[in-house]
Amino acid sequence: MQTFHVAIGPAGYDVFFGPALLGRVGELMLGAGLAGKVALVTSPTVASLYGQKVMDSLRSSGFEVHVLEMPDGEQHKNLGTVNSLYDAMLDLGVERSDTVVALGGGVVGDTAGFVAATYMRGLSLVQVPTTLLAQVDASIGGKVAVDHPRAKNIIGAFHQPKMVISDPHALETLPPEEFRCGLAEVVKAGMIRSPRLFAHLERTGAEPLAAIVAQAIGVKVEVVVADPYEHDLRAVLNFGHTIGHGIEAVSNYALRHGDAVSVGMVAATRIASDMGLCPHSLADRLGRLLRSFGLPVAMPGLSPDAVWQAMAADKKRRDGRLRFVLPRAIGDVVITDQVPDDLAKRVIASVVACAPTAPEI
Ligand SMILES: NC(=O)c1ccc[n+]([C@@H]2O[C@H](COP(=O)([O-])OP(=O)(O)OC[C@H]3O[C@@H](n4cnc5c(N)ncnc54)[C@H](O)[C@@H]3O)[C@@H](O)[C@H]2O)c1
Ligand SMILES: [Zn+2]
Repeated sequence: MQTFHVAIGPAGYDVFFGPALLGRVGELMLGAGLAGKVALVTSPTVASLYGQKVMDSLRSSGFEVHVLEMPDGEQHKNLGTVNSLYDAMLDLGVERSDTVVALGGGVVGDTAGFVAATYMRGLSLVQVPTTLLAQVDASIGGKVAVDHPRAKNIIGAFHQPKMVISDPHALETLPPEEFRCGLAEVVKAGMIRSPRLFAHLERTGAEPLAAIVAQAIGVKVEVVVADPYEHDLRAVLNFGHTIGHGIEAVSNYALRHGDAVSVGMVAATRIASDMGLCPHSLADRLGRLLRSFGLPVAMPGLSPDAVWQAMAADKKRRDGRLRFVLPRAIGDVVITDQVPDDLAKRVIASVVACAPTAPEI
């Protein structure tokens, strides 16, 4: 087992990562002084795979466990689901000294996390992420949120977990497309902060998986510890997400987040090379790695204008200017709002318009 300490808040907390940890959730929680009732929030898919194992572990450590299932899918990450969870917890008499355990992907983690942040002004939260994306990204750093019909992740809080327990064995049952999309965030981790991780991915792909997940966890922990409340540095995690979010939104969220971010990372790297920040070869190198994982480097068929408009809508929420995270080299990025609009539009067109005839804007 590897332990990553997240030095945020008075005591900080640990991310435990290692095989067979799903069977040790109760033991690890006892070790951190947690006791009482557990509201085990999960989804039907994950409950059927891992619910029993985690429940057994919690019960054998003396916890009173109640399973609260929420439906699978981003469309259920909303206040309606939050309300149903509040109802169930009130019925069960869950109190401030009790604990919410989130067992599942980022949707479960964000929703259960928001419930833990707000029910009775906040109770203990333990994240047990079961997707690659949730293990390397969503479970770490304390951002919890649900969606509003008009905007994603807009109703939220910072609520750090008491611990994160990640078991790489859980990833063995992930559908290939979920795995691929998680890999986009792993590549992102390498690009923003870890030439070692990037080189590892180029050399041996995603093998051995535990080694690359551990390195990506290390990157996320470092970034959130340096900037827990997203004042500045934490924005580097948005590499590939400025254009990626625009692409996702224009597809009406039919495209997967990881696929959109993959295209967004290539686009951001092209912008960087056009601005003279990095060599032109970097976008090709990144593209080769992404393609080797089955991730896209272009998304033909979308309207570049619509992507730009969607990005502009995003921009309104951040003091009027689009912020980009641009690479200078592998493992080294800068945050800038100085990208000329015409350059951004031209590069967007090069990745979303029908490939050989991409119009010049
Ligand atoms: N809080 C943050 O900092 C943060 C960061 C990044 C993303 N997010 C959020 O995370 C969410 C996406 O999370 P996700 O990619 O994990 O998707 P997800 O939670 O929707 O999970 C994807 C699918 O995989 C299934 N699943 C989960 N674990 C499995 C397993 N081990 N085996 C088989 N199937 C499994 C789920 O039931 C679901 O159907 C988004 O809502 C996003 O906004 C949050
Ligand atoms: Zn992302």
